[in-house]
Amino acid sequence: MDKISVADARKAEAVGRQVRLQGWVRTRRDSKGGFSFIELNDGSCQGNVQVVAPGELANYEAVVKHLHTGASVRIDGEVKASPAKGQSTEVLASNVELIGDADSETYQLQKKGHSFEFLRGIAHLRPRTNTFGAIARLRHQVSMSIHQFFHEHGFYYVHTPVITASDCEGAGAMFRVSTIDPAEPPKVDGKVDYTKDFFGKPAYLTVSGQLQGEAFACALGKIYTFGPTFRAENSNTPRHLAEFWMIEPEMAFYELTDNMDLAEAFLKRITSDALKFCMEDLKFFAEKLENNKELFAKLENVLNNPFKRVSYTEGVDILLKSGKKWEYPVAWGNDLQSEHERYLAEQHFKCPVILYDYPRTLKPFYMKVNDDQKTVRAMDVLVPGVGEIIGGSQREEKLDVLESRMREQGLEPEGYGWYLDLRRYGTVPHSGFGLGLERTILFLSGMANIRDVIPFPRTPGNAEY
Ligand code: 4AD
Ligand code: MG
Repeated sequence: MDKISVADARKAEAVGRQVRLQGWVRTRRDSKGGFSFIELNDGSCQGNVQVVAPGELANYEAVVKHLHTGASVRIDGEVKASPAKGQSTEVLASNVELIGDADSETYQLQKKGHSFEFLRGIAHLRPRTNTFGAIARLRHQVSMSIHQFFHEHGFYYVHTPVITASDCEGAGAMFRVSTIDPAEPPKVDGKVDYTKDFFGKPAYLTVSGQLQGEAFACALGKIYTFGPTFRAENSNTPRHLAEFWMIEPEMAFYELTDNMDLAEAFLKRITSDALKFCMEDLKFFAEKLENNKELFAKLENVLNNPFKRVSYTEGVDILLKSGKKWEYPVAWGNDLQSEHERYLAEQHFKCPVILYDYPRTLKPFYMKVNDDQKTVRAMDVLVPGVGEIIGGSQREEKLDVLESRMREQGLEPEGYGWYLDLRRYGTVPHSGFGLGLERTILFLSGMANIRDVIPFPRTPGNAEY
C-alpha cells in the first residue's frame, strides 16, 4: 500500500495499484445500487479523483453515507480504469476512515459556486476552492520558473533588506517601522525624536530592493532579488496591493536595449513554463472565468511574437490620435493610466508593448538622463489584460548628474552616501527592472482582481488574517 497523491492516482499508470489517499471530500453522491461516489481532492491538482465506496464497507451506513463536503478522510483502495467519460481512473475503496468532519450547517464552502468577494471574507478557507487552489499552484510554478530562469542565465539571488532607511522610488509611500510608543513619543523641538527610536533614525518597510541590488550587481555582475515590498499608497484599485512581491534583476554593463531583451525573454519563459506545467489549471481559468475565452490565444500571442518597442512620445501620439475619450487626460508629460496602457497593448498593438524614454519629471531620480535632457532611460512593459507589469530603467552612472537629479526631486544626496559610492568607485553602465508577481499571475490566469491572486491581501483598510 503506497501513500500517493490524487494527482498520481488520476494517472493511467496507477491502474492496478493498492494505494492510500488522504484529502478532503468535495462531494458525496449515493447511488441507488447501494454504493456511494466520493469526489476526493488533496490540492495536488485541479481535478478530483472519484472514489467508489461499496455498500459492503463495515462503516458504510454509519460513516460513508454521512460524509460531508469539507470532511477530511483517509481512503485505502485499488486504482481502477474508469468507465466514466473524462477521467482515466477511479479508486475502489476497501477502507474509508473519517478523520475530521465538517458540519454542513456551518461550513461556509458548500458545493455551490461562491463569488470572489464572498471568498475574500473567508481567505483562510478559499485555498480549498478550485480557483484558489489553481492560483496557489500557478504562483508556485511562476516562482520556480523565475529562480530557474535566472539561475540558468548566471544570475545570483540576493536577499535585500525588508527594513530600510532609503526611499527607493522617492514617492514617499512608505510604512514606518518604529518601536516608539505613539502615546508618549520622545520629542525635540516639538517633533518626534527618531534618534531615540530602535534604529536611531527613521526606518521603513522597503518599497523596492533595487538600491541594495545595485550594490551587488556592481560586484557580482548579474543579480536578482525576489521578496515582499510594501507601499502605503492609498490606491484602491484591482491592480494595487499594499504588500506585494517583486522580482528585481540588476545587471552591470547592461544598457536599456539589453534590459528590454532580458525582460522579454524572461516573460516569455514564465509564460511558456505556465503553459507546460499548469495546463489543467489554465484550462480551468479559460473555461470558468468571465471574459477569459481568449486566454490561450493571448498567451500564445505573447510567446510567438516580438514585443513592440515604442517611445513614450510615440505612445502619447498614438493615444492622442486614437479618437478615444479618456477618463484621465492624455498629454506629453502626464503619467499614463491603466486605461492608456491597456489601450496600447490590447487594442492598438494587440501584443505586449515596451514603452521607453519617459519624461524625467515622471520617473525616480536613479534613471539615466537622455541627451535631450527631457527624458530618462525608463522602460515599462505593458501587457494585455493588465497594463504595466514591469517597470525598469538604465541607471544614471554619472555621480554629478545623479546628485542633481536627487536635489531636483527633493532628496538629500547626503542621505544616500553609500549609493553614490557605487558611482564614485568603479561606476559602470547598468540596468534593471522590477516584475510584479501578482500582476504576472493576473496576466497568466485572466483573474480580474489582484486581491484574488495573493494568499492574504493587504489593502487600505484591510489586514485580516
Ligand atoms: O515600476 P515600479 O515602481 O518599479 C520599481 O519599484 C523599480 N525599483 C524596479 C526596478 O527597476 N528594479 O514597480 C515594479 C512593478 C510594477 O511594474 C508592477 O508590476 C509592480 O511592481 N507593482 C505593484 N504591484 C502590486 N501592487 C502595487 N502597489 C504595485 N506597485 C508596483
Ligand atoms: Mg512603475
